[in-house]
Parts: sequence; structure tokens; C-alpha cells
Amino acid sequence: MSLNGKQVIVSAGPTYEDIDPARFIGNRSSGKMGFAIAAEAARRGAAVVLVAGPVHLPTPEGVTRIDVRSAAQMHEAVTSALPASIYIGAAAVADFTPQAFSSAKLKKKPGTETLTLELVRTRDILADVAAHPLRPKRVVGFAAETNDIEHYARGKLQAKRVDMICANRVGVTGSGFEADDNALHVFWTQGDATLGPAPKAEVAAVLLDLIDKELD
Ligand code: C5P
Repeated sequence: MSLNGKQVIVSAGPTYEDIDPARFIGNRSSGKMGFAIAAEAARRGAAVVLVAGPVHLPTPEGVTRIDVRSAAQMHEAVTSALPASIYIGAAAVADFTPQAFSSAKLKKKPGTETLTLELVRTRDILADVAAHPLRPKRVVGFAAETNDIEHYARGKLQAKRVDMICANRVGVTGSGFEADDNALHVFWTQGDATLGPAPKAEVAAVLLDLIDKELD
């Protein structure tokens, strides 16, 4: 399937939510799945904007990369990149961020054994893109679930009003966070499909075929 003349936005990697100048809250996403999707979309002729959280990966050929750190910055970068034909939210966006950033490094207090951090919800990039006046024709999200995968994935399809949810099949050898291979269970309103386990580049190609075939 060709993506000639199409604009594709992909978000990838973790977000880092700063607590103080020395510390942050992050997660274990490597960004590899999102980078593989961006690379494959560019190979198919799309104009690709890749919004990347803090990762150590080279920029795929022909892709415009915007580096961000926090969920708020990722939200701003993704929505500013609209309009697009397709948005694929493959980033592991932090659900919560510290309510306040401390410009001074937090200190251990003598005699105190605990520290309470007040966290607030981040804005949901995927849901906001799906509800945006410039909504892409196709909005695809990811989900990391450990149980009741179909139940939660279908719930997300509806709640976030997206066209497809790709659930990582956890427990499949070598797949998921940090791995070079991945296995997905993909859900859309009319059906579902399992992809992989296979190298993330291969999974990306099959996923783009599926978006073209099932959602067109
Ligand atoms: O609800 P949950 O976080 O499990 O949904 C995962 C999907 O939502 C992923 O595609 C992720 O990139 C996206 N997401 C987002 N903004 C958030 C939280 C999750 O875009 N603040």
C-alpha cells in the first residue's frame, strides 16, 4: 500500500515528568515500535512527523523528528503537527505528572522516612487528537494490558473514539518494552487480528497494511 501524498504523525517513546532538576518519573518504553512505524510510513511515501520522547534511537530516513520530554510537550507537538491523514500514538505517555516542579533539589529530611509526591493527570493526547476539529481520518492507539486485553482494548476504542487499538501481547516471548520483536492484538470496531511475534519493522508493515485494508 502506498502512502504517497499522505501526512502521518507518529508519537513514540516514553515521557519524562520532572520532579526536580535531578529526578523524573519515566517508564521503560524504548520507542522502537513507534520508530519502526515512522520508518515504514516514510518508506511508503508519507510525509512523516515523528514526535519522540527521550530515546536513544537514530532518526529514520526521510522522517521529520520533533524531540520532546514531557507529556505536556508531546501533547503540544502532536496537536501542532495537525492536520494529518493518520495519527498513530505509540508513545508510553505518563498518566500522571508532579503537580509542581521543585526548582531546588528535594532533600532528605532528618527523622522523616517517607516522601509524598502529589501527582496530577496528564492530558490524553490520543483522545484529544480524536476529538480535534482537525481529526485525522485514522487515529490509532496502543495499549499495554496484562489481563482482559479485549475488554480493555474495546473499551478504549469507544472511550477515546479512536479507530484502532493495538494491544501489546504481554507474556509472548521477546515482545513488548525494550525488545526488538513485538506481538500485537489489534482491535477495530468490525474485527481483530493478531500480529507477530516478529521484528518490530515487520509488525509495523503489517499494521500499516491493516490500517489501509480494514479502515478504508
Ligand atoms: O488509557 P491508556 O493510557 O492505556 O491508553 C494508551 C494509549 O493512549 C496509547 O496510545 C497512548 O499513547 C495514549 N495516551 C495518550 N496520552 C496520555 C495517556 C495515554 O495519548 N496522557
